[in-house]
Amino acid sequence: MKEQLNTRGVVFDGPGRPARIEELVLDPPQRDEVQVRMAAAGVCHSDLHVVDGEWERPAGVVLGHEGSAWVESVGEGVEDLAPGDLVVLAWTAPCSRCNACERQQPWLCATPDGSGHRLAPELVRLRRPSGEPIGVYSGIGTFGEHQVVARSAAIKVDPRTPPEIAALIGCAVTTGIGAVRNTAGVRAGESVVVIGLGGVGLSAIMGAAAAGANPITAIDTSSAKLELARQAGAHRTLLADEADQATGADHVLECIGLVQTVELAIELTRPGGAITLVGMTPQGQRASFDVYRLVEEGKQIRGSNYGSAVPARDFPMIATEYLEGRLPLDLLITERIGLDQVDDAFEAMRRGDGARRVIVY
Ligand SMILES: NC(=O)c1ccc[n+]([C@@H]2O[C@H](COP(=O)([O-])OP(=O)(O)OC[C@H]3O[C@@H](n4cnc5c(N)ncnc54)[C@H](O)[C@@H]3O)[C@@H](O)[C@H]2O)c1
Ligand SMILES: [Zn+2]
Ligand SMILES: [Zn+2]
Repeated sequence: MKEQLNTRGVVFDGPGRPARIEELVLDPPQRDEVQVRMAAAGVCHSDLHVVDGEWERPAGVVLGHEGSAWVESVGEGVEDLAPGDLVVLAWTAPCSRCNACERQQPWLCATPDGSGHRLAPELVRLRRPSGEPIGVYSGIGTFGEHQVVARSAAIKVDPRTPPEIAALIGCAVTTGIGAVRNTAGVRAGESVVVIGLGGVGLSAIMGAAAAGANPITAIDTSSAKLELARQAGAHRTLLADEADQATGADHVLECIGLVQTVELAIELTRPGGAITLVGMTPQGQRASFDVYRLVEEGKQIRGSNYGSAVPARDFPMIATEYLEGRLPLDLLITERIGLDQVDDAFEAMRRGDGARRVIVY
């Protein structure tokens, strides 16, 4: 008999309010759903955008969208996952029926399973003890000790993958590496500039190094980040006020989400080169560029959502590359923290301090 489970999670209660741990109740998984026990969860700037009110999301949502977990039980119809499996959780669970899914672009899925943050009443599995429904950020809410997620959001990886590393594959790593490989299509010998060296930007550096890009230039305001970038494979590092030295790159990736550095990325790209925008600004912001010059110089600007990745293909592949020693993902982990330290992690991220803080359950 599957029963309700008492659990806990960090709940967003509106911008400007501290995210607090709450006692919650979880219903068992239904058809095509999976109940998981969280193993580890990374704190990503896309959580902070919500907490800081830069992205509008409903209050009463368990935060976190980067995580790994163990399968606890499966609903009807789930045959390829079993209790005990280590899974990386994907923040889009593609429906596999819409036009984008049919084009093999699951990151653009129009009707993803379970990612409405606030699900329809018949889809809510998580509640406050009072019975009030609680939302689940991106359908996975990895700052919760347990969740019920869509079957297509739980991707099995090699069980030897350390849970903290597996967690980061769920967002930062796949976003950064995928932006280089899938969106930009960087090839060996091309020059790459990465602006912003958080979990996403450092992963982009690793992706560029694995692709044989040369030279790879890393830019940030923090010299500690520049040191990490060198370990990740950057050949040259620049503080933000020296960025003009990086002019003329084949590819520039913006991994912060600031209008100023989006415009800088366009300037630093050579004629005929490509700008890949990964960082996301507060909603509604606009950047500008000289249209005449952009057209004359034949530059291309692309947005990269989730590294244009197919989670079911890319997550296991990246985990294998890590296990074979081909991606130094360990250097992304600045600190292992408990669920009660999420607010401190947000504060550190506001200061640009550290790559990733990872909750270990
Ligand atoms: N496109 C996607 O699918 C996707 C997925 C995940 C995250 N994101 C976005 O990517 C961005 C980065 O996420 P993160 O978790 O790595 O963030 P982060 O806060 O850890 O990293 C940002 C980095 O930018 C640096 N920085 C800040 N201002 C700068 C400036 N003016 N010049 C140079 N460097 C500067 C900081 O020092 C820090 O190292 C966020 O906007 C996040 O929302 C997008
Ligand atoms: Zn993220
Ligand atoms: Zn779809």
